[in-house]
Amino acid sequence: MELSPWLVFLFSVLVQAFAILADTNGRDNAGLSGIADSWNKKPSNWNGIDPCGDKWIGITCTGNRITAIRLSSFGLSGTLSGDIQSLSELQNLDLSYNKDLGGPLPSSIGALSNLENLILVGCSFSGEIPKELGQLSKLIFLSLNSNKFSGPIPASLGNLSKLYWFDLADNKLTGGLPVFDGINLGLDNLTNTKHFHFGINLLSGPIPSEIFNSHMKLIHLLLDNNNFSGSIPPTLGLLNPLEVLRFDNNKLTGPVPSNINNLTKLAELHLENNQLTGPLPDLTGMNALSFVDMSNNTFNASDSPAWFTTLPSLTSLFLENLRISGQLPQALFSLPAIQTLRLRGNRFNGTLTIGSDFGTQLQLIDLQGNQITAITVGGSQYSKTLILVGNPICVAGSNERYCTPPGQSNPTTKLYATTKNCSALPPTCLSNQLLSPTCSCAVPYTGTLFFRSPSFSDLSSPANFVPLEQDMKSQFTKFNVPVGSISIHDPFFDSNNNLQLSLELFPSGKIQFGEQDISELGFLLSNQTYKPPSKFGPYFFIGKQYTFASDVIIPSKSKPNRLPLIIGISVGGAVLVVIVLALVIVIARRKRKPRQTEERSQSFVSWDMKSTSASTIPQLRGARTFTFDELKRITNNFSEANDIGNGGYGKVYRGTLPSGQLVAVKRSQQGSLQGSLEFRTEIELLSRVHHKNVVSLVGFCLDQGEQMLVYEYIPNGTLKESLTGKSGVRLDWRRRLRVVLGAAKGIAYLHELADPPIVHRDIKSSNVLLDERLNAKVSDFGLSKPLGEDSRGQVTTQVKGTMGYLDPEYYMTQQLTEKSDVYSFGVLMLEMVTARKPLERGRYVVREVKAAVDRTKDLYGLHALLDPALGASSSALAGLEQYVDLALRCVEEAGADRPSMGEAVGEIERILKMAGGGGTGPDSASNSMSYASRTPRHPYGGDSPFEYSGGGMPSSRVEPK
Ligand SMILES: *[C@@H]1O[C@H](CO)[C@@H](O)[C@H](O)[C@H]1NC(C)=O
Ligand SMILES: *[C@@H]1O[C@H](CO)[C@@H](O)[C@H](O)[C@H]1NC(C)=O
Repeated sequence: MELSPWLVFLFSVLVQAFAILADTNGRDNAGLSGIADSWNKKPSNWNGIDPCGDKWIGITCTGNRITAIRLSSFGLSGTLSGDIQSLSELQNLDLSYNKDLGGPLPSSIGALSNLENLILVGCSFSGEIPKELGQLSKLIFLSLNSNKFSGPIPASLGNLSKLYWFDLADNKLTGGLPVFDGINLGLDNLTNTKHFHFGINLLSGPIPSEIFNSHMKLIHLLLDNNNFSGSIPPTLGLLNPLEVLRFDNNKLTGPVPSNINNLTKLAELHLENNQLTGPLPDLTGMNALSFVDMSNNTFNASDSPAWFTTLPSLTSLFLENLRISGQLPQALFSLPAIQTLRLRGNRFNGTLTIGSDFGTQLQLIDLQGNQITAITVGGSQYSKTLILVGNPICVAGSNERYCTPPGQSNPTTKLYATTKNCSALPPTCLSNQLLSPTCSCAVPYTGTLFFRSPSFSDLSSPANFVPLEQDMKSQFTKFNVPVGSISIHDPFFDSNNNLQLSLELFPSGKIQFGEQDISELGFLLSNQTYKPPSKFGPYFFIGKQYTFASDVIIPSKSKPNRLPLIIGISVGGAVLVVIVLALVIVIARRKRKPRQTEERSQSFVSWDMKSTSASTIPQLRGARTFTFDELKRITNNFSEANDIGNGGYGKVYRGTLPSGQLVAVKRSQQGSLQGSLEFRTEIELLSRVHHKNVVSLVGFCLDQGEQMLVYEYIPNGTLKESLTGKSGVRLDWRRRLRVVLGAAKGIAYLHELADPPIVHRDIKSSNVLLDERLNAKVSDFGLSKPLGEDSRGQVTTQVKGTMGYLDPEYYMTQQLTEKSDVYSFGVLMLEMVTARKPLERGRYVVREVKAAVDRTKDLYGLHALLDPALGASSSALAGLEQYVDLALRCVEEAGADRPSMGEAVGEIERILKMAGGGGTGPDSASNSMSYASRTPRHPYGGDSPFEYSGGGMPSSRVEPK
């Protein structure tokens, strides 16, 4: 280390030499190269020493100073180097949509006293938000949403007196909302901020009443999907400019302040899924309201309120499970803007009267589980969806359409999608291209628009979406970016109540965007330069990595070649080069030195199966033990409200760990020996597998005679629930393919990378869970079997599994191999396209499909068997034939004729590309739903398995004490 002062000296000489040669300020240049060195790649023209003079992509200069770095959707990975502090004139930093860019945000960023825009949307930054951000006195726009930040919101951010946009949503922030405490400023001092977007975090505690005051200019206040408790402070009524309010999905209690109707500009009101009490809020006079959701609270039982029929702009009224009674006023259906009425689980009674003057946009009236006894529909028949299941009018075996449970009866309304104007047969595009609305093939910039509070709820009506297309088109033209056409499709409300919409921007007059185009386009969307029509409300965009033409030609690791110049500068430089090269070689060698392979994990140590006493509590790395009392506490004493499912083994409860992590607690029925065996199997197996498509085990409890497993919480339920329409998740063809791909990757991991390999033995749709981004997670390892080294890939065992999915060969021979899972997976694949139970009333899906397949016909002639929700047109179901071929290979009689799971993964990836859901990378298919996942590294796309592939499974030893 004696070398270092000398190096520093040489470096400064070098920097000065650069400054003489180049237009760009030397410090800026050194800072930028420090930043770029912590990334995996650089834009293609970042060569040489003069970012400003050479007009580097994504860099803006004023004079010789760097004032902006904008590199969204570039596929950068690595970290943000503390060298950023050198760029003292920097005003704009936008690194959004680089999902593999992460690590902690350097606190030295606080030195950037000129920074106005700090935009890091959709990356994976973690750790605490540095309090030094509070020093950025010129900051106007702060977007750190959709990262992995944890810890509290620093009170120092209350110093950002110029802040206009403040978005911390979708992180893992904890703690409360800091307010002025007499010394330190708090969020209540942000009187120029119009947007507080803090939803989807783990924030808790009461909403302090001091936080709202009449000096504030807030128009969007989003605190949804957190753990806020206590009551809503009456100071809320002081926020007169407020337009959007989301308090939904918290634990708020107490009455809603009666002065809420001071908020006369409020258009969107979300209070659903809290524990609010007192009278049903009176919304009289709030004439700007268009979307009201107050479902699932515990307001006093009441009669249908007068304000129901007085809100002129109301499009959506969601009041589920609120014990509202009396006759529904007929005028509600004739409100001029009304689209959706979700009023299930109330006590509306008497005759339902829908006059002939019902609103022209009315799409859905859901009155399930009320007490309606009769119906009168005047004039022209109301022909849109009406659901009266569970009302007295339906109990007498009525055949009326409104008495059939939704999902089965109503023809699936077609969700909006931009039409493609092809006069002739559309051309077949290359795999990385898509068909544009103007019917040409090009490489679009794609991503997902998230609307946090749209004012409408009808997702089929062009009237809701065409204005967005037109508006984007005209604004992009104004911004002078080369966007030729725009396609939007697949709108749906996600589990956080955000409206998601897929967006494709096609280049104008060329097949591919350039790097500078993407830098600009990404920024237009990340910093909200583009503003959608007001009825869409606040939004954010998550772009996908764009594949540039240069990515294909230049390998991403290529480093700009600076050496010749350096040598040209001075002999001192040459010496430095030698030293640097030597250092580089030493470091590189060290890095390549193989990791000490961990001791090969021991074969399964068997427990004393008869004993459940605490003396045999296993010691497993990775999974922690919980006491009974801990689990009791986090599940509210195993309350009904926390009950999220059950099965033969017992019940599953939702819980929140003190760290804020949501978990699912599976509590076995007491006293079953079988349960005990499965319980242990599951702990042993799950604590040694780590893959993003396999549910992960947080811990377990063997205490007070209880057996409980604690898993990560997977919010969207089982695949089976989605297929039967139970869960509200809509799966179109491409999404189904992605889910199938995820499940296949999870199983392939178990077979091919777990050590020893694991046969799951119970692959079925109810054992595949969907997370918030609809990533598939294989779960339930109660029946799983490891294939020991001496077993040569098979074990003889008692036949277990689920009828309908069970491999007939295994059933007959009792020889268990991985191919048994492949069979079950094949059945699952067929279930995915037919949405039928594999075995129902003597009909076996495998036999039915085999019998019906006619390879000479369009879609193999399977139209009658396909799930109607898929829309059985061959253009919508691109790749279906290949999919069916694969599924049928998986269910071949003989295991030897079935593909391996790894082969199935490869094939599904190809099919997904045909369906237009794939990019160039093997894993990009699942990325389209999952911006939190990683760039492709391996066909199985797992994040973690490769840490272990050197033979070192995480050692999960089971040691009876
Ligand atoms: C900060 O806000 C509080 C009230 O919430 C106020 O009393 C205090 O004067 C404010 N301080 C500054 C510097 O604005
Ligand atoms: C509807 O319920 C209200 C009380 O909730 C009751 O007063 C009224 O008589 C009921 N009407 C009918 C037609 O049953």
